[in-house]
Amino acid sequence: MSGRVIPMAFHTLLLLALHQFLILPVVAYTALSDHFLNLVPSGGDDFNIENGKLLAPILIPRVPGTAGQTTAQQHFVNFFTNELPEWKMEWFNSTSRTPATGNKQIPFANLLFKREPPWVREGQSNLLTLVAHYDSKMTPEGFIGATDSAAPCAILMHVAREIDRFVTQMHSEMSALGEGGTVEMDMGVQILLLDGEEAFVSWTETDSLYGARALAEQWEMSAHPAKSFYRNPLDQISMFVLLDLLGEANPTVPSLFLPTHWAYKSMAKIEDRMRKLGLLESTPKHNFLPDAEKQASAFHKSHIEDDHKPFMFRGVPILHLITSPFPDVWHKITDDGEHLDMPTVRDWSKIVTAFALEWLDMMEVEPKEDSGAST
Ligand SMILES: *[C@@H]1O[C@H](CO)[C@@H](O)[C@H](O)[C@H]1NC(C)=O
Repeated sequence: MSGRVIPMAFHTLLLLALHQFLILPVVAYTALSDHFLNLVPSGGDDFNIENGKLLAPILIPRVPGTAGQTTAQQHFVNFFTNELPEWKMEWFNSTSRTPATGNKQIPFANLLFKREPPWVREGQSNLLTLVAHYDSKMTPEGFIGATDSAAPCAILMHVAREIDRFVTQMHSEMSALGEGGTVEMDMGVQILLLDGEEAFVSWTETDSLYGARALAEQWEMSAHPAKSFYRNPLDQISMFVLLDLLGEANPTVPSLFLPTHWAYKSMAKIEDRMRKLGLLESTPKHNFLPDAEKQASAFHKSHIEDDHKPFMFRGVPILHLITSPFPDVWHKITDDGEHLDMPTVRDWSKIVTAFALEWLDMMEVEPKEDSGAST
């Protein structure tokens, strides 16, 4: 019995060492200054539900296999093509039968927009991966899923747009210095818009997460060339940050997973600092992210089924940003634009943008003057 002590201790040490190796390069980032937090824009009128350019076009039913699905896809494609041409676009398409649609193959199309450092080879970059689903539930008829997840998609478009100029500046400065080839240097970001999250009839293993399941499986099988730093695209995901059911007033977004609690704490800290600096518009009863002090012993298995599942199952680190308890309008026809709380939506867009900037270590390129800030 005692003979097992040493190997176990050794095993633990080895795990710890590995853990440090994997985690440290990412947590070594510098917090954004107050000045920088001040410059983070909220998206303002772009989230207007009638005519705002980000959200309004996708406040429509977006059921896979219908015209609304195509309209939503076109909205994303046009936005990135026109405004963020440096982001590489990729489709991940699949088809499946569903219990509601008989023998017909329903198309599911995930969209990925990726911004890597220009110097990286395939399989070399580690990617902050910001995720939301864009499909909407088939029932009740006319359902448009404003919190579920039109608003999160629009928030991610905003994040991409606002971090882009800093990413560009950082890449060009680093290229000029001939840097690259270390984990800190080879950081990129990708926005993943998943299709087919919703069940067509009722939630089961096979009637749900159509897009996420197909993609996680495909990525697991897509080995990078030999000697790549990362084995496959799953391995490149430094953090899978999933936004879902956001946009209602007074949200509570708990910390769900101990292994990524440190990242939750970073975001909670950003929210708290922004509130204290008077940079947020909403006046919730408590912070959106109230769990920064959660103790390790308080973590239990999360039973929330969502797009992270097939990725988490394959070892990808997950930060799940979901209102829990779910919004009052959840899966009701009232989950529409009018029931969104716009100050909350705009605050989320600021918080997530600041989190991404901090993750990407943008203090390195902190703007010296306010003049460059967009609105
Ligand atoms: C994936 O599906 C979309 C939407 O139908 C289509 O526009 C796109 O060309 C497809 N891409 C690939 C690679 O099959």
